[in-house]
Amino acid sequence: MMMLRCWLWLLPLMVISVSSQQSPKPHIIYILADDLGFNDVGFHGSAQIPTPNIDALAYSGLILNRYYVAPICTPSRSSLMTGKYAIHTGMQHTVLYGAEPRGLPLEEKLLPQYLNDLGYTSHIAGKWHLGHWKMPYTPLRRGFNSHVGYWTGHHDYNDHTAVEHGFWGLDMRNGSRVAYELHGQYTTDVITQHSIDVIANHPVSKGPLFLYVAHAAAHSGNPYNPLPVADDEVIKLGRIEHYKRRRYAAMVSKLDESVGIIVDQLRRSNMLENSIIVFATDNGGAAEGFNLNFASNYPLRGVKNTLWEGGVRGVGLLWSQRYLKRPRVAEQTMHITDWLPTFVEVAGGKEALANFTTSLDGQSIWQALVQDEASPRKSVLHNIDDIWNSSALTVGDWKLIKGTNYKGAWDGWYGPAGERDPQLYNWQQVAKSLAGKAMLQLKVLPSRADQQRLRSAATVNCPNQQSNTQKGSVCNPLQTPCLFNLRDDPCEQYNLATQYPLVLNSLLSELKHFNSTAIPPSNLPDDPRGNPKFWNYTWTNFGDYPKINNHNVLGDISMLMEQSRAEKNAQESQGIPMNLNFMKL
Ligand SMILES: *[C@@H]1O[C@H](CO)[C@@H](O)[C@H](O)[C@H]1NC(C)=O
Ligand SMILES: *[C@@H]1O[C@H](CO)[C@@H](O)[C@H](O)[C@H]1NC(C)=O
Ligand SMILES: *[C@@H]1O[C@H](CO)[C@@H](O)[C@H](O)[C@H]1NC(C)=O
Ligand SMILES: *[C@@H]1O[C@H](CO)[C@@H](O)[C@H](O)[C@H]1NC(C)=O
Ligand SMILES: *[C@@H]1O[C@H](CO)[C@@H](O)[C@H](O)[C@H]1NC(C)=O
Repeated sequence: MMMLRCWLWLLPLMVISVSSQQSPKPHIIYILADDLGFNDVGFHGSAQIPTPNIDALAYSGLILNRYYVAPICTPSRSSLMTGKYAIHTGMQHTVLYGAEPRGLPLEEKLLPQYLNDLGYTSHIAGKWHLGHWKMPYTPLRRGFNSHVGYWTGHHDYNDHTAVEHGFWGLDMRNGSRVAYELHGQYTTDVITQHSIDVIANHPVSKGPLFLYVAHAAAHSGNPYNPLPVADDEVIKLGRIEHYKRRRYAAMVSKLDESVGIIVDQLRRSNMLENSIIVFATDNGGAAEGFNLNFASNYPLRGVKNTLWEGGVRGVGLLWSQRYLKRPRVAEQTMHITDWLPTFVEVAGGKEALANFTTSLDGQSIWQALVQDEASPRKSVLHNIDDIWNSSALTVGDWKLIKGTNYKGAWDGWYGPAGERDPQLYNWQQVAKSLAGKAMLQLKVLPSRADQQRLRSAATVNCPNQQSNTQKGSVCNPLQTPCLFNLRDDPCEQYNLATQYPLVLNSLLSELKHFNSTAIPPSNLPDDPRGNPKFWNYTWTNFGDYPKINNHNVLGDISMLMEQSRAEKNAQESQGIPMNLNFMKL
């Protein structure tokens, strides 16, 4: 009897000590979509594109409803990897082109390197886009143990070639090797396969995993085949009338399927309960033919590569069974730079973080998210681009827009609104999806009523869109800075610059302060040596070779330089700076 009592008394203690021993650092799975629009997931209120797997995670986790990103790929990915604004790494102007002899500076310590120092093993599947002209810039040299994917900003999803500035070549790698043998395999599937291989081959004894899944979807492919996806997938979405929107939707469906397969693999490998999963976009969607694509940020204003909300307020969700008060629509303001310090805190590196926070722009919002407290982040610098003369900043509820890109050509509101009647949304599909089933098994998928409540709370509505400017004046950011109150006016319809001159001035001076800390953009002209034709038609680390191998190419180089100079002059004489040609991003 006595012994039994002792045992009973000991039992809870043992459980506690076992559980604290068994409370290892969480795996971090970061799934990044490319150019996905705010209105292209089911949980933001449109039923047009079925995204049941992504939605299942959203309803079972936190919908990050004030999540901000940089307006375009390279700045956004730089911010994710460094925890710094692009003005502090020189990556603030447009994207990195495949033949540019530059990359994210090598002095920067990147997210996987921080996590590796804390016991993680890091892998990447998919797009890099942070430099490859010399090997030290590529993923395997910057903290990742494996990489199956591509180095430039986009490619064809089937043959994996990329066209840029008239250069054309294959861009698919397995590690540092050109992956010729993957020809014909759909990129979304290749990225999914590598992701599940990494998960399946990750032994418990290896400690925590950081897996960065950087999808190609739903970025457009090459101009001659901008929306590459199998006809079978397109046919399934026949009810979407607009043909190109239908193809885009099929690309997003494949992305959603990938999310389901990855969650399912985490479940099979008994890693799901101890995983933190992020699904987020890198920037706003490319709508109505921008980049030859058909995303939707409705009802937000603008598109990818503009500083309007449609360019910078991104789709984002955070899932974890272990830590979060779920389910919830999180209203905490968060910026893409915040992931690095947030993950470092989760990984147990908070003390180390204290030593370098002064140089980071990101802030850990982990406690705010876990405890549902106010975000420590009070302002977001969207960008300062002194080549295109555009900048924007949000402080509290106020947003300043100074200058704009494309001479204002993409400053409007673009659809489609999608199928916004709640009756049209397929709730059953959420529970039946792979991610939905995994959530049900963990008993974290909320009731239908709760899902409806969450979905409606995560839907942005802006009545009287474009029809009522009485509350403010029309904004022409090319002439004078504009001011919006995002809390009242998330669609940026009412310019309040003249009504609130003091607010305007304080934001302008904060912008000036940020500007005083900026370093110059690092953009460089294309290096003719980067042309894939010199490298068996592959995009490669051309800067590592003193000379281009085979025959005499000097004639080719001077011809190319002449050609690109002529092209640039021709465009600029028409008043279009070469980089403004959005088809080439
Ligand atoms: C990449 O290479 C590794 C090692 O050679 C191999 O095991 C793996 O299957 C390859 N992955 C793909 C997607 O081809
Ligand atoms: C932080 O920096 C101090 C002073 O350089 C050093 O003594 C300390 O070990 C550092 N802490 C961590 C956790 O790296
Ligand atoms: C930006 O401003 C500078 C200086 O006023 C001007 O030279 C340049 O043409 C402007 N660029 C664009 C894209 O408007
Ligand atoms: C930032 O400062 C530079 C000079 O240091 C100036 O040319 C530029 O116009 C400033 N940009 C903004 C947005 O204030
Ligand atoms: C050159 O590319 C072709 C495919 O286009 C490939 O079969 C061949 O192995 C490559 N040659 C070398 C030397 O890598």
